[in-house]
Amino acid sequence: MAPTSSKTYIVEHLDEELGPWSELEYLAIAKESQESGAKFLLSSLPPAFKVPEALSAVPSFTAENRGVEELYAQDKSRVCLLDPAAAKDLSPEDGDTFDAFLFGGILGDDPPRDRTSELRKKGFEGRRLGPVQMTTDTAVRVTRLVVEGKTPLQEISYTDSPELRFNEHESTQMPFRYVKGADGKPIMPQGMVDLIKKDADKAIDDLF
Ligand SMILES: C[S@@+](CC[C@H](N)C(=O)[O-])C[C@H]1O[C@@H](n2cnc3c(N)ncnc32)[C@H](O)[C@@H]1O
Repeated sequence: MAPTSSKTYIVEHLDEELGPWSELEYLAIAKESQESGAKFLLSSLPPAFKVPEALSAVPSFTAENRGVEELYAQDKSRVCLLDPAAAKDLSPEDGDTFDAFLFGGILGDDPPRDRTSELRKKGFEGRRLGPVQMTTDTAVRVTRLVVEGKTPLQEISYTDSPELRFNEHESTQMPFRYVKGADGKPIMPQGMVDLIKKDADKAIDDLF
């Protein structure tokens, strides 16, 4: 079957719960998918999972208890897994080959623990987004720029390991690659900088 022009971004949720970081990331993916006319499917949700209202309010968003293997059992070749360990990098032509792009719903970790391997085992064709670990929303953003915007991976402007400075004394470094925004700052989900600051303050409080 020929691929359709409208793309589906699938995040297979691999954690039991939905933490506040993942919630902000998923909301950013939902809003950007809505704006570009794409669909966002959050799959493999545990039965008791409560989908946040802000997410279910986005028309192009779908929550699914079934996993991607079951959902795409008949169309496996239409799905591309974004995999940091894949042998080949994603290219604009992949937008002509695949309809759906699959990501691990995992928070970034440093050093990376390769939890994407849980999806690799399912046998989807894999593509890498370069050698540096990205957050899940960044990985979707970069994939969209490549397959919808037809921008080659190496022509996208990135910011690696940005330092977020909260005040004169407090800052934190994020060990991931982000897309550089028009204002020169790394693009992050709305509310993420405040959440990171709150978590950093909590970690300091916990020390005392
Ligand atoms: C935060 S990353 C998780 C990476 C992680 N440390 C792991 O255990 O695999 C979340 C998802 O974004 C995608 N991703 C992030 N960086 C990538 C890269 N450089 N190439 C391909 N996919 C990437 C993958 O789908 C990955 O499962």
